[in-house]
Amino acid sequence: MSATYLMPTYNRQPISFTRGHGSWLYTKDDTPYLDALTGIAVCGLGHCHPQVTEAIQQQAATLVHTSNLFGIDWQERAGETLCKAAQMDSVFFANSGAEANEAALKLARLYAYQRGFKRPKVIVMEKSFHGRTLLSVSATANPKAREGFFTLDDDFIRVPFGDIAAVKQAAQDYDDICAILVEPIQGEGGLNTAANGFTYLEQLQAECDAHEWLFMLDEVQTGNGRTGKYFAYQHSKARPDVLTTAKGLGNGFPVGACMVRGRAKDLFSAGSHGSTYGGTPLASRVVHSVYEVLSTDDVMANAVTEGQFIRDSMTNELQSYEISSRGAGMMIGIALPEDMNCSQLVDRARDEQQLIINVTGGHVIRLLPPLNIKRDESEQLVERLIHLLKPLF
Ligand SMILES: Cc1ncc(COP(=O)(O)O)c(C=O)c1O
Repeated sequence: MSATYLMPTYNRQPISFTRGHGSWLYTKDDTPYLDALTGIAVCGLGHCHPQVTEAIQQQAATLVHTSNLFGIDWQERAGETLCKAAQMDSVFFANSGAEANEAALKLARLYAYQRGFKRPKVIVMEKSFHGRTLLSVSATANPKAREGFFTLDDDFIRVPFGDIAAVKQAAQDYDDICAILVEPIQGEGGLNTAANGFTYLEQLQAECDAHEWLFMLDEVQTGNGRTGKYFAYQHSKARPDVLTTAKGLGNGFPVGACMVRGRAKDLFSAGSHGSTYGGTPLASRVVHSVYEVLSTDDVMANAVTEGQFIRDSMTNELQSYEISSRGAGMMIGIALPEDMNCSQLVDRARDEQQLIINVTGGHVIRLLPPLNIKRDESEQLVERLIHLLKPLF
């Protein structure tokens, strides 16, 4: 087969997988590859988790779709478990992270509209990534994603990530700000954490409270146990008004969610937003089953222990070299020297070590292994990475 009939929106690697199990992907000839990317932070429970697979199979044979014109029992159940886990009041189910953020950004506009704003603005961060719909790509920093799309630049104010003084300055410079949208840890932009960690979120919330802005967290990547808490903001005392998630929410089944509380609670009403597919019986049952595994097995505790083990092992093994590690739980960044040529790393990891990784921000190895990775797999991951990296120093 070839990709002739596919739009060239991705630079695809010259490999495809036909089967997955736990932390492993397999090619047609059954060569195993250790997966430290999990479909870009999606399969947090590993590939084809038996409980999730069973939920998909049972629901696919029972009822797949009816539309939101009717009550959907599984959507109500999934909504309740998700909102309780996220400490939010209610949820709108979408089909992706970008759609969840689109809903959040529309909520911010509606909030501004109801307060009589003429030209509302949302504060977003440098190096942010929020998706590919027109509004979410306008909130995104990456120039390559934005180029040529007449992005809605007047609707956003961009400040450096982690810089609370810049937010305070924006509050003085503009009188039409209605919200802040931020990732607790920036995933696509280089696995960036704020210098003061999750305290930054508390500072942002304080600014939002002081100015009556919506505090909106994009937990599309950091949510669903990825950082060792159900949502990353739960490492802090902050409480968002709007919280979005996707990726790990369905462990590979496409689903997204935008949750609200407080100031954002009653903004949407019948007809103001919607989605034909959002929260189908099938998608909702998957969300529910993923939650059940996350909350009953020690998956998040494992993400913390193994994440720490991988970070510590990497820095110990390479302690005489200029590297540092960052992130939380199973969202791991290994920063290599900025002048190191990392262009071949992903290909070499795959071809020489049968290891699937990602490099972001030019020189940061991004590891997003399954949250339930086993210790011997973590050891293999470290060993394969060390083999890959040592010759470069
Ligand atoms: C933080 C964040 N927000 C939004 C998105 C967009 O999600 P999706 O690709 O499901 O639309 C991503 C995807 O990488 C993301 O990392």
